[in-house]
Amino acid sequence: MEISILDDAGKVAYIDRADMLNVVQEFPAQCQEAVCIGNAVPLEGLEDAAAEIRSILVLGMGGSGVSGDITRTLLEDELRVPLLINKSYEVPQFVNENTLVFAVSYSGDTEETLSGFDQAVERNCKIISVTTGGKLAKKARALGLPVVRIPSGIQPRSALGYLFLPLLVILARLGFIAGKDREIEEAIGLLQTQSKMYAPNNVLEKNMAKELASRLYGRLPIVYGYSGLSDVAAFRWKCQFNENSKIPSFWHVFPELNHNETVSWEFLEDISKNFNLILLRDENEPPKIKRRIDITKELIEQKFGGIETIWAEGTSKLAKLLSLIYLGDFVSVYLAFLYGTDPSPVERIGVLKKRLSE
Ligand code: PA5
Repeated sequence: MEISILDDAGKVAYIDRADMLNVVQEFPAQCQEAVCIGNAVPLEGLEDAAAEIRSILVLGMGGSGVSGDITRTLLEDELRVPLLINKSYEVPQFVNENTLVFAVSYSGDTEETLSGFDQAVERNCKIISVTTGGKLAKKARALGLPVVRIPSGIQPRSALGYLFLPLLVILARLGFIAGKDREIEEAIGLLQTQSKMYAPNNVLEKNMAKELASRLYGRLPIVYGYSGLSDVAAFRWKCQFNENSKIPSFWHVFPELNHNETVSWEFLEDISKNFNLILLRDENEPPKIKRRIDITKELIEQKFGGIETIWAEGTSKLAKLLSLIYLGDFVSVYLAFLYGTDPSPVERIGVLKKRLSE
């Protein structure tokens, strides 16, 4: 596909049948609404329970599960109880009546999450569900458990604001963390600016998201983040390349990747020259991490077809993380257009879920 298609609204609209680009553009408004939804949900009984909570578990897969990853990354410096993410059928042994469980599923019908929910019920956990409906909402309602009801009609991965921000708001309401109003305000302001910068009517030469997509076209993205901030953004970029752009992509995390993957870029250079390395960084990253990334870059950059360094924007951890994630969302959608593919359908996920339910 010609790169110029990215500036052609007619051709883009033809490919983007379910209008994902518009949903991505509206993400700042989605975040605003998500905060209101999180603040409005009744939490009767849970206010007192908070003092008894010894662990927090987030159940969720794919586009829903990433809400837990983001929450953990953001809050690990602040939470006084461990927060774990469960991305399978079985919940860990330690889960009991002193565990607060968030069951997050956009559709409400994801079987791993439903299995985790049932086990959490059996173990008398305190459970809050975040969903558009489905079996999860039915089960929770039948038991009189709180449900954060979010709007339906978009792809789960496009609903990140709805899926993640209520967790943050509720954890603050229950006293696990300090209120995040200031950080949320800063993040949404930044997202609004980014939404304009990466908008489809902003032409390629002035649009970082389109430019990045055009450089990644025909290449396999390898995305590296660092533990404590951009690790979850690297994972999100990889998943968005997979689901929106329909291309393979891989990710890893500093410092762990220095103990294995760094060695791997030795042979197969004719293959790795078709890969582009993307480094997700922050100007204030810890000095030890900064040194590692700088040295690693020198050691391996020749092995790739191209290298991109993306710097987080904003001051709070929330703003920085969302700024990285938001750019990746736009890039993955523009890249889908370059491949001539609609970013919305995820046919294989649907087929798999259907066959598993038969
Ligand atoms: O983005 C997607 O469509 C997937 O990653 C889904 O989020 C994943 O399959 C889980 O489904 P749900 O979010 O409905 O629980």
